[in-house]
Amino acid sequence: MKAFNDLADFSNEEILALIDLAARLDTAPEPEALKGKVLSLLFLSPSLRTLASFQAAMTRLGGGSFVISPEMSIHGIESRPGIVMDGAAAEHIREAIPVIASYGDAIGIRAFAQRKDLDADLGDQEYTALTDLIEKPYINMESAANHPCQSLADWKTMNELDIPADGGKLVLSWAYHPRALPLAVPAATLHMAAKRGMDVTVLRPEGFELPQRMMQNASAAAEASGGSVSESEDRKEAMEGAHVIYAKSWSSTRHYGDKLADQKLREQHLDWCVDETWFGNAQDDCRFMHCLPVRRGVVVTDDILDGPRSVVIQEARNRMLAQMAVLHQMLGNSS
Ligand code: CP
Repeated sequence: MKAFNDLADFSNEEILALIDLAARLDTAPEPEALKGKVLSLLFLSPSLRTLASFQAAMTRLGGGSFVISPEMSIHGIESRPGIVMDGAAAEHIREAIPVIASYGDAIGIRAFAQRKDLDADLGDQEYTALTDLIEKPYINMESAANHPCQSLADWKTMNELDIPADGGKLVLSWAYHPRALPLAVPAATLHMAAKRGMDVTVLRPEGFELPQRMMQNASAAAEASGGSVSESEDRKEAMEGAHVIYAKSWSSTRHYGDKLADQKLREQHLDWCVDETWFGNAQDDCRFMHCLPVRRGVVVTDDILDGPRSVVIQEARNRMLAQMAVLHQMLGNSS
């Protein structure tokens, strides 16, 4: 495997093989599988789970890893193209990336959206400009429009919970958050669930529609897998028969890059906080999923997060196992 960039690059059979491998590595550890291998981890945006789970994954497979972020570089890292570097930063990403990549056998990169130009972010322009600088295998640890590691872990989690692919319903719901957040997780989740063959409903208030391009990609994936994609602003209608609600906040695409307009719009929807009333006509055992971190009492109530519906810790642990499978295929002897 040369890159783990997008679940769309893999067939469903290949994804299921990765999930099987992840499960096998959990029950039958291979502590020498990646002996002597090094994973470089570049975080241009903050993380808890991704950072810790990749380091743990490499250690469990017998390899090593190191982490670089702008805050850790005593030189500072500049990433703007064409900039005259007469400010604080003394190192440009164009040199930093190939140098960091040269110390490892593969590199993971996290680079969030700029959130100024929707088309640029949907095209993952910043992330692609970085991966163009390296020749080593690389892993998308979350870019402007994708989070394939999260989606692989979430697919595995749903399989473990026996949530049906064929006929299973996932509601991807916008939730209130005080800040405008990226589109990466909603985009990746929507596509993953559609590719898995589920019936996916995007539940969101007016003004928070997902971009047409994202909906069309997901619809094409659903069509190929026997699923469907729809959208609604009606909570009751959307939640009918749902097996899963996947909550996530995202920016208003109508006001993309305009923080004030986005804030004015989102503040009209403070009641988009998932609580037990949302589950009235869902399946009895409808699950609550979220990629974390999650704001308690804002995105979801404590009783849902602490109750039997929530599978957020299982999802987070599966991050490590799913990434072990990816690393095993990328850097192991079978690669
Ligand atoms: N879900 C996720 O990617 O978490 P972090 O941002 O903490 O890595």
